[in-house]
Amino acid sequence: MFEKILYPTDFSDVAMKAMEFIKRLKDAGAKEVILLHIVDKRTLESMAMSVYSTQDAMKIESDMIEGARKEMNPIEKTLKDAGLNVKVIIEKEIPFRGILGVEKRENPSVIIIGSHGKSNIEEMLLGSVSEKVVRKAKKPVLVIKR
Ligand SMILES: Nc1ncnc2c1ncn2[C@@H]1O[C@H](COP(=O)(O)OP(=O)(O)OP(=O)(O)O)[C@@H](O)[C@H]1O
Ligand SMILES: [Mg+2]
Repeated sequence: MFEKILYPTDFSDVAMKAMEFIKRLKDAGAKEVILLHIVDKRTLESMAMSVYSTQDAMKIESDMIEGARKEMNPIEKTLKDAGLNVKVIIEKEIPFRGILGVEKRENPSVIIIGSHGKSNIEEMLLGSVSEKVVRKAKKPVLVIKR
């Protein structure tokens, strides 16, 4: 049931709480974790419009990807130390679409996602990314509450 886990993270507190949960799923049969971060391509596009050259835009993009990779390193290590195989994926997309694309490609047993992310608005039952993933994913989604 938990053999292959798709774990999308925006590095927020709630997503980190999901990691703590995943760590403990080895005894429940977890073997592999797809650790996924989507660099929001809309952010990249709007930043590209406010710079003067293609080189500047490319630099912003590579900085964002590199920043994400750095944030993923300790998460990857923690999960590996817990005895899980980890595959790291960073993609440039609209977050929910990227998550659903990786779901299709990787065919996980389950998706484990935070109820909220970086915005973490008090009144919202779910964030917009987790809401769309819950609605549109084919696989079971386990939502870790804040
Ligand atoms: N860019 C992303 N890449 C991978 N996973 C993400 C990304 N953004 C959000 N997530 C996942 O979705 C969960 C919920 O985040 P979401 O963005 O829906 O909430 P929010 O930031 O509080 O609200 P919103 O983004 O709608 O303002 C996160 O805990 C994380 O697991
Ligand atoms: Mg968000």
